[in-house]
Amino acid sequence: MQTVTLIPGDGIGPEITNSVLEILKEAGAQIEWDIQTAGAEVAEEEGSPLPDRVIESIKKNKVALKAPVTTPIGKGFRSVNVQLRKSLDLYANLRPCKNIDGIKTRYDNVDLVIVRENTEDLYAGIERQIDEDTAESIKIITRKASIRIAEFAFDYAIKNKRKRVTAVSKANICKLTDGLFLNCVREVAQKCSNIEYNEILVDNLCMQLVQNPSKFDVLVLPNLYGDIVSDLCAGLIGGLGVAQGANIGLNAAVFEPVHGSAPDIKGQNKANPTALILSAIEMLKYINQNDAAQRIEKALYKTLKDGYIVTEDLGGSATTEEFTNAVIGNL
Ligand code: NAI
Repeated sequence: MQTVTLIPGDGIGPEITNSVLEILKEAGAQIEWDIQTAGAEVAEEEGSPLPDRVIESIKKNKVALKAPVTTPIGKGFRSVNVQLRKSLDLYANLRPCKNIDGIKTRYDNVDLVIVRENTEDLYAGIERQIDEDTAESIKIITRKASIRIAEFAFDYAIKNKRKRVTAVSKANICKLTDGLFLNCVREVAQKCSNIEYNEILVDNLCMQLVQNPSKFDVLVLPNLYGDIVSDLCAGLIGGLGVAQGANIGLNAAVFEPVHGSAPDIKGQNKANPTALILSAIEMLKYINQNDAAQRIEKALYKTLKDGYIVTEDLGGSATTEEFTNAVIGNL
């Protein structure tokens, strides 16, 4: 039995969390959940949206499954997600993006992996209001963070038998910051001669991704570009409802979908739990519960391939609950 921290989040978070809990239980996963709430409601009760108990729990258990948490736009507290990643030094955000059988999309040969730097860039949150009409935000790129994310990307490429790593930047404009990032990736690339290496500017990458995504393999990006390109790539494989992710550091890992708390469909039993289920499968593999992981993977892919019990975002009419039961039925 392994203890895993569970953050049910808010918005659609609790609905998709329930789905995952039921599926993991039915699949025989040996997990004791350490449930830790976070977000706006917690901030009202405990004075912080991310109380120390959440961080302590993940530090102790070393692994967490997290549903999305809402961040107020343009005001209010700092993102729980950004704080969590920073406080636990979860420096690598890994977002595999591959077509799933049964989900019809524009392309049927997408198989790429986004490796997003997770701790700095404009997400350092260093902003100030200079006067009423001017605000500034500081973009921080360091050698330490750039080298270790590049090493993570190449290491991932080697271990997962990938062919190429592409560094993404806007170093033609942000010559110092993105320039430093790029130089660090080049340095690491030189030591990994068995993996091909190339570079692309982020705007050109976006255009090429929507025209011919199959030409990309592993992408390594600074934080902001990684965030934006992740959503673009989710769109290539069927949308945010099916895009999984993981935040990995040296001492802990937090598995979570790419999508947010989807307030527009909150409480309507409409949310697609697939992205959180896929994140949970990766979490199970990470803690060596491969049997349960494989059973769920098969059942989930069968449900999606059959295609008649899927949620609205995938063109179906099933509720979150009906989809969950279909996966359980296929276990
Ligand atoms: P979002 O990802 O929550 O939603 C974008 C669109 O995708 C919406 O139309 C939503 O209904 C749909 N969608 C997302 N997940 C879905 C699912 N599982 N099933 C079906 N449809 C789904 O992005 P948005 O609206 O920009 O952000 C909402 C909130 O989430 C914000 O407060 C944001 O800060 C937060 N957020 C949290 C993240 C996290 O906790 N890791 C990540 C991204 C955003």
